[in-house]
Amino acid sequence: MSLTTTLPARWYTDPGVFERERGPIFGSSWIHVAYEFQLRNPGDYVTENLAGWPIFIRRGDDGQLRGFYNLCPHRAGPIVWEGSGCRPNMVCRYHGWAFNTDGTLRNARDFGCPAPDNMDLTPIQVGSFRGMVFACLSPSTAPLHDWLGGFPAEIEQYPIESYTFHSKSVRNVACNWKTYGDNFLEGYHLPTVHPAMSRDADALHYEVVFKGDDRWNIHVMPPRDDSTFGVFGYFWPTYAFDIFPGGFAVERWLPRGHSHTELIFEYFFADDAVNVEETVKFSEEVADEDARVCEHVQRNLDAGSYDTGVLSPKWEHGLEVFHRLVRDAVGELD
Ligand code: FES
Ligand SMILES: [Fe+2]
Repeated sequence: MSLTTTLPARWYTDPGVFERERGPIFGSSWIHVAYEFQLRNPGDYVTENLAGWPIFIRRGDDGQLRGFYNLCPHRAGPIVWEGSGCRPNMVCRYHGWAFNTDGTLRNARDFGCPAPDNMDLTPIQVGSFRGMVFACLSPSTAPLHDWLGGFPAEIEQYPIESYTFHSKSVRNVACNWKTYGDNFLEGYHLPTVHPAMSRDADALHYEVVFKGDDRWNIHVMPPRDDSTFGVFGYFWPTYAFDIFPGGFAVERWLPRGHSHTELIFEYFFADDAVNVEETVKFSEEVADEDARVCEHVQRNLDAGSYDTGVLSPKWEHGLEVFHRLVRDAVGELD
């Protein structure tokens, strides 16, 4: 039988490929960047870096959430320092130009003449879905709720808004964002990479289920008894969640250049959830195991002695779909 092959190694190693991915993938998709609970009050902001584009989202004085490139039109200074916080005004940190809550220029401090026209902040799209705040750089991408398609209905049954933020972990993993994505999209490695997880759950019946939209899928794995497993979900390009009894975790990965990926976990639990610390510890161990194997795979891809592999028809169909979306977005390489 003829097997589907993987993306060739160059797709994971060439900075030029990442350059080509930035616009059609990270500049055109909705990317999860923050939570409503971080942006409750006027002036609250959160920054993020979307495949190289620094942005921020801020709750305006009028209560509305807005997003902008974190970039002053004067000489490219930052409007807010990276991180999160609350600032009552939008004043550039470099020379002090001030902007209104909607991003229009209010005052070009001591400039010596009137500022020219078109010196406003560049807005980006912002959308909120069940307490999660997403951003999209492209004005022509459909609004968030349209873009999500049938995905919201799939997770409607889980009471995620009733959970409270518990903790966050961030790993800088030395691999291309697709190396981690490939790993997320198959359960083939579970018994070998995650032996403890496979003791708790029936890893041999892990299933990645597509429901008519190639951009997202749901992963199910039968628990052995009262273990912590529920359901995993994925949405293109780099958003995922794990829902378990009494809580859930968002798992997202953002490229930091072609060779590194920031892997972020954020945990939420019900007030009466049990085994909270054990659940987090266990999930973090699984993340360490994934990061370790992805970094080793990346070193092998970088080494130049491997080009293209093959995909298991039983286990790795999710990668085939993922690779097709990447190729469709980027086009063929020269
Ligand atoms: S770069 Fe913003 S005021 Fe100069
Ligand atoms: Fe894994």
